[in-house]
Amino acid sequence: MDLELNGKRAIVTGSTAGIGVGIAHSLAREGVRVAINGRSERRGRAVVEEILAAGGDAVLALGDVADDDGAKAAATAALDGLGGVDIVVNNAGGFAGNSAVSSVFNIPPADWLRTFDMNAGAAVRMIQHFGPQMRDRGWGRLIQIASGNAMMPSGETPDYAASKAAMLNVSLGTAKALANTGVTVNTISPGIIYTRSVKAWFRQIGEREGWGDDEAKSEAWVLKNYSPQMVSRIGRPADTGDAVTYLCSPRADFINGIHWRVDGGATPTIT
Ligand SMILES: NC(=O)c1ccc[n+]([C@@H]2O[C@H](COP(=O)([O-])OP(=O)(O)OC[C@H]3O[C@@H](n4cnc5c(N)ncnc54)[C@H](OP(=O)(O)O)[C@@H]3O)[C@@H](O)[C@H]2O)c1
Repeated sequence: MDLELNGKRAIVTGSTAGIGVGIAHSLAREGVRVAINGRSERRGRAVVEEILAAGGDAVLALGDVADDDGAKAAATAALDGLGGVDIVVNNAGGFAGNSAVSSVFNIPPADWLRTFDMNAGAAVRMIQHFGPQMRDRGWGRLIQIASGNAMMPSGETPDYAASKAAMLNVSLGTAKALANTGVTVNTISPGIIYTRSVKAWFRQIGEREGWGDDEAKSEAWVLKNYSPQMVSRIGRPADTGDAVTYLCSPRADFINGIHWRVDGGATPTIT
């Protein structure tokens, strides 16, 4: 299928590492010119070089999207580098504290607000920046990357789970605000995707369980004890990237206001 994306222009926030890199590569393979965003210039340049070497087109759009000035700098660099933006993928996110094993009782209120800013706030900044331009041009794609935690909080990192749930709400509300304009607004919630944080988590599990760096054993442990799925592997950034790319396509014009779980069947519910 020709996804008819050739020549479109996208910014992918948080695309200097992890899932964002997978999204950027997938879009670039379809001929989308991509602005690579993050805070690390070194990692960002490396991703731009990878895409150029593969025959795609990419520019750098550095900036901290959890911050008003940083988000503005990233948006301006993307506009300058690409001449316009048709697609925004709000992928940057995370949580303010240092521990992936925190609880509602030990996260300071300031960290809750910071985590909200890193996820929902970052998406809102980009939506506010680019949404009106897309509406005026009569075409656009706004994709939010949430998380399975938005629907099934584990009790650990509750600030992260709540801020991802807020992204679902922001996304659908934005879809309604932009209804019948040619701009579609959708959300994807990845399950466990192999990135640097998952790699570090696997190492912690291996050390605790006694098999050290054997990632296959940690993956099996996670699939059995933490996240039983209907596909017997954890995800890769490309799994998310290809789903995002389809939603960005003009061929997906009839899909608006949805929430897709790209998680190997880890959240087997109807809604
Ligand atoms: N991995 C998973 O299993 C998983 C599952 C569900 C949802 N998610 C979500 O998927 C998204 C990507 O996660 P990931 O695992 O790929 O993370 P990752 O490997 O840690 O990469 C995060 C990326 O975002 C950038 N970034 C972080 N905060 C930023 C900010 N404030 N402004 C600009 N760039 C920022 C980082 O670049 P710099 O360091 O250069 O700033 C990096 O490029 C996140 O929203 C995460 O919550 C991940």
